[in-house]
Amino acid sequence: MWRVKPLDAIIATAEKKSLHRSLGPFQLTMLGIGAIIGTGIFVLTAEAAQKAGPGMIAAFIIAGFVCAVAALCYAEMAAMVPVSGSAYTYSYAVMGEMLAWMVGWALILEYAVAAGAVSVGWSGYVVGLIENALHIDIPNALVRGPMDGGLVNLPAALIATLVTLLLVLGTTESATVNAILVAIKVTALSVFIFLAVPVMKMENFTPFAPLGFGGISAAAASIFFAYVGFDAVSTAAEETRNPQRNMPIGLIGSLGICTIFYILVASGVIGTVGAQPVLGADGAALRPGSPELSAACAQLGDAKVVCSKEALAWTLRSIGWPQVGNLIGLAAGLALPSVILMMMYGQTRIFFVMSRDGLLPPVLSKVHPKFKTPHVVTLITGVFVALFAAFFPVGLLADISNSGTLFAFAMVAITVLVLRRTDPNRRRPFKTPAVAIVAPLAAIGCIYLFFSLPKETQIMFVVWAAIGLVVYFLYGFRHSHIAKGVVEVPELSPDAPPESVPPMPGAPPPGSH
Ligand code: ALA
Repeated sequence: MWRVKPLDAIIATAEKKSLHRSLGPFQLTMLGIGAIIGTGIFVLTAEAAQKAGPGMIAAFIIAGFVCAVAALCYAEMAAMVPVSGSAYTYSYAVMGEMLAWMVGWALILEYAVAAGAVSVGWSGYVVGLIENALHIDIPNALVRGPMDGGLVNLPAALIATLVTLLLVLGTTESATVNAILVAIKVTALSVFIFLAVPVMKMENFTPFAPLGFGGISAAAASIFFAYVGFDAVSTAAEETRNPQRNMPIGLIGSLGICTIFYILVASGVIGTVGAQPVLGADGAALRPGSPELSAACAQLGDAKVVCSKEALAWTLRSIGWPQVGNLIGLAAGLALPSVILMMMYGQTRIFFVMSRDGLLPPVLSKVHPKFKTPHVVTLITGVFVALFAAFFPVGLLADISNSGTLFAFAMVAITVLVLRRTDPNRRRPFKTPAVAIVAPLAAIGCIYLFFSLPKETQIMFVVWAAIGLVVYFLYGFRHSHIAKGVVEVPELSPDAPPESVPPMPGAPPPGSH
């Protein structure tokens, strides 16, 4: 179970693929912003407020910082091992098969569960838009999950299904579509800031941290979700001109720009409509996405932003801009499906590579004869994403997704350190700056955020990991290609159909330059 996939074999086959190096700092930054801005800022702002009050501003800064150091580690591995499968592949080469399997297993949480979370976020905005712009009242039973005061979230399940079908048909997002969606999202957030920030009232910022530093940490652990997606930049390392210079610009640039937007947007929410949490009878803050909070909000007539499923649109409506609020809803409705697409795509790619490595059944890497997409794995993923979206609240899904992502990122940071020691002379197109500080900070930051997640989420992660180990020893351990002495990386072998692993969404396809 400690067997590794030889790094040289991975890199040699990757070099055969040798994509044209065309991406510059601007394209990388756009790619990052396109993958990052989504449900986190549009929806989870309400959740962060419920956990930290106005102190959520500090939570945005903490989460952004942890992502920045993690991203710098991620980029070193991505530039050195520029193949699909991201954190899973890096771990396979350095930490051994069992840990790689655990990372891949955790990435299921990152991608598939995140796709469910973004679907629920999308539903909140689209339902709000229909109700406010068209004055059609849709019963909560049909648009919220059972923990959130409803029965089933039909729109969320519907969008997840539609995205699945698009993926089966082979849709990937072109650089142009990405640029348009980035423009829509950035415009929506800018308009929000422009209308909300000038009318802020400073008294809304006190008490700043009604739930103390514990509340801020808890909010940081949840709002971490708002930054997930920057790994899209790292994975484009292979297509980047002068990665040593442009990778950090793209990563830190997109994270920095998003952080500034997030802080301004959060300030706009806090300063205009206030962000004090709803407390229970015992004086403790009620858990977001819990039936108790739904009931308390219903009593308050949903008159607080922490009750809203569409925090930014709700805020604008409350401060006298109902039509602009609807437009923000429209922007979210248009832009969020692309985040779902990227997440589900990432998931199918990881499953695909794990199956090609023999750790999952070969049927999962079957490619559709006509559409040339891994349709079996896409459909299976889609069914689960739709079920998550139909029955669970957005915050819970985001927290579970974060637990997997934090584990994977911590492993990548450790991998970077291990490899610097065991293989110091290997060519590294991008080196993490000040690695002795940055990598430990990334690992510690991820561990700190993991333990700031709700206890139930931590337990769920441990249960998930335990199931993963059982599956590994029942299946992967015996079927692993490495165990059978097959060391080539079939995904990249020249005779594999090139369409079987399409390029990362948002990145221009090879040969299109
Ligand atoms: N960062 C992405 C979002 O907030 C996952 O939707």
